[in-house]
Amino acid sequence: MKELYILGIESSCDDTSAAVLKNDLLLSNIIASQEVHRKFGGVVPELASRAHQQSIIPVVDQAIKEAGITPDDIGAIAFTRGPGLLGSLLVGVSFAKAFAMARKIPMMEVDHMQAHVLAHFIRKQGKEFQAPSFPFLCLTVSGGHTQIVKVDDYFNMTVIGKTIDDAAGEAFDKAAKIMSLPYPGGPVVDKLAREGNPSAFNFAKPSIPGLDFSFSGLKTNILYFLRDRLKEDENFIEKNKADLCASIQHTIIEILMDKLIQASQITGIHQIAIAGGVSANSGLRQAMTKAGEKLGWRVYIPEFAFTTDNAAMIAITGYFKYQRGLFATQDLAPYARGNM
Ligand code: KG4
Ligand code: ZN
Repeated sequence: MKELYILGIESSCDDTSAAVLKNDLLLSNIIASQEVHRKFGGVVPELASRAHQQSIIPVVDQAIKEAGITPDDIGAIAFTRGPGLLGSLLVGVSFAKAFAMARKIPMMEVDHMQAHVLAHFIRKQGKEFQAPSFPFLCLTVSGGHTQIVKVDDYFNMTVIGKTIDDAAGEAFDKAAKIMSLPYPGGPVVDKLAREGNPSAFNFAKPSIPGLDFSFSGLKTNILYFLRDRLKEDENFIEKNKADLCASIQHTIIEILMDKLIQASQITGIHQIAIAGGVSANSGLRQAMTKAGEKLGWRVYIPEFAFTTDNAAMIAITGYFKYQRGLFATQDLAPYARGNM
């Protein structure tokens, strides 16, 4: 394929991001994270859309400059259509439509969850690169989703297991909130866990049939456990912060890995990837490497920059859609809930 510059736009939640690819090679990936939500302990949708509106032009501008090209060079634009917060999505979708119309270039709509999986296909200059081959399994774990996906092709993905209540990222965030740790809790728990003992405290794992997950019981378990301990010692959390984080993280990882191992046994697939914000977790990354060695898996762990929300993963998904002529029309609307 001749040289094609693709601009990717991501605005589904609280990160405004723009990226430029030259075919599948990443030239820039700018992410503006919205700090405004921190003091509310979670994403406030109205504030998120407003912050996207403020950031989108400067972020796109910076991505184009860093890529060393001009807007005239861009041959196509890819954008997140959903799932996500509608007000947030509308900013990126409207920007992409206007950009495509003004510059008379095609546009590609991207499903955010497919994009997390396809982040494994982003190529970077000077980096040795081995993309997974089909079929592979991907554990996609983020703030809104927890899925085991069987990936037979770029756009032939089947969710073979999913959470029936909270997502894994939500479990991290809620546990952190109970312990009065800042939002988002995942990275904070991860950091504190490194100093703690993962076997210090025992939290029950749910018994859910098949390949589905559940995390709401763990949250309640932590809540009651701490309520009782705090009655005995009001400084219990402060004194045991690292051990609590390590034990909670250990439990979440075990819940995830148990089902992933089962999924590999059932499907006979030994190429296993992780994706999404929680795939940044150092404990999960270690558990994957260990399982790979023990079970003979070929393991794919994304670069940190491609774990949490980013536009590079949107652009690479757009690239594969472009190759197949899968273009979007001006009359489409974003969707809030997943379609995979
Ligand atoms: O993929 P993502 O950026 O946004 C969604 O699409 O949801 O994922 C965000 C989630 C948050 O719940 C955050 O706490 C979690 O990913 N997260 C982590 C880590 N970094 C981000 N969870 C555990 N350990 C981390 N290091
Ligand atoms: Zn995401």
